[in-house]
Amino acid sequence: MLVFSGSSSLSLGKKVADAAGVMEGETKTDKFPDGEVYVRVLSDVKGERCVVIQSTLGNDALIELLITLDVLRDLGASRVDAVVPYLGYARQDKHFNSGEALSAKTILKTIKALSDSISTVNCHFLGKEGVFNFHGVRLRNLDAFPLVAGYFADKLKKPVVIAPDKGSLSYAKHAAGIIGCEFDFLQKRRLSGEKVVIETKKLDVAGKDALILDDMISTGGTIIESAKVLKKEGAASVNVGCVHGVFSFGVDNVRSAVDRLVCTDTIERDISKVSVSGLISNILR
Ligand code: R5P
Repeated sequence: MLVFSGSSSLSLGKKVADAAGVMEGETKTDKFPDGEVYVRVLSDVKGERCVVIQSTLGNDALIELLITLDVLRDLGASRVDAVVPYLGYARQDKHFNSGEALSAKTILKTIKALSDSISTVNCHFLGKEGVFNFHGVRLRNLDAFPLVAGYFADKLKKPVVIAPDKGSLSYAKHAAGIIGCEFDFLQKRRLSGEKVVIETKKLDVAGKDALILDDMISTGGTIIESAKVLKKEGAASVNVGCVHGVFSFGVDNVRSAVDRLVCTDTIERDISKVSVSGLISNILR
């Protein structure tokens, strides 16, 4: 087996290969003068099972994944598995308005056409770990929340886990079980892609170290507004753990609003203190 680390998952791919005890495949990636993505596979893959690890934050990363999967098949790989730790476009999983593209389906159908299996981590539209069928595409979803909870387990004096909305309550409950503390949720109302409001609600956080867990941080609106409410309610500290650090407007606006901010390496950042490499290497055995 060979693990190919795409350019958006270079360190994660290396960790997965190390954890699985397999070699990394070699590629050369570049850009053409017009910005188009160039990929060349340098390893001999004939008859080999190949695993491509590439998060798809941004269209270039997605194109790189697609053309890498395809060339590996062209070169005679016996099997090509796609591991997409952060699956871009996953939030377009429904027709929110008539005529809208169901982008998540299109992307997954395209990856499926070029690979033998698809795995991802905390896919936005899948609430739990397991194997799912999404519009005819089979995909495996891994859950990194227990790892994020584990990271914080010995770092907070008086922890309380907070879900930013009711939809994330089951993750918060599980995480609170791992840490051994209480949990609660906030009432979030989204006004637009960038604006959210957190409704007033009685919370028992005074003097406690609140830990907000969310699957992803994009604009940061959810976390910034949640942190304001928790501080107003007297939380001793506001700590944040997310799986996917998308940070569409950069990390700094969120970092300055909270006491501690951590994400996993599904998207590689300087705050990626939690690695999903173990989760991924487990499914390659
Ligand atoms: C929402 O359902 C998600 O769990 C996140 O809370 C949301 O995507 C975060 O987005 P933002 O950082 O833009 O508020």
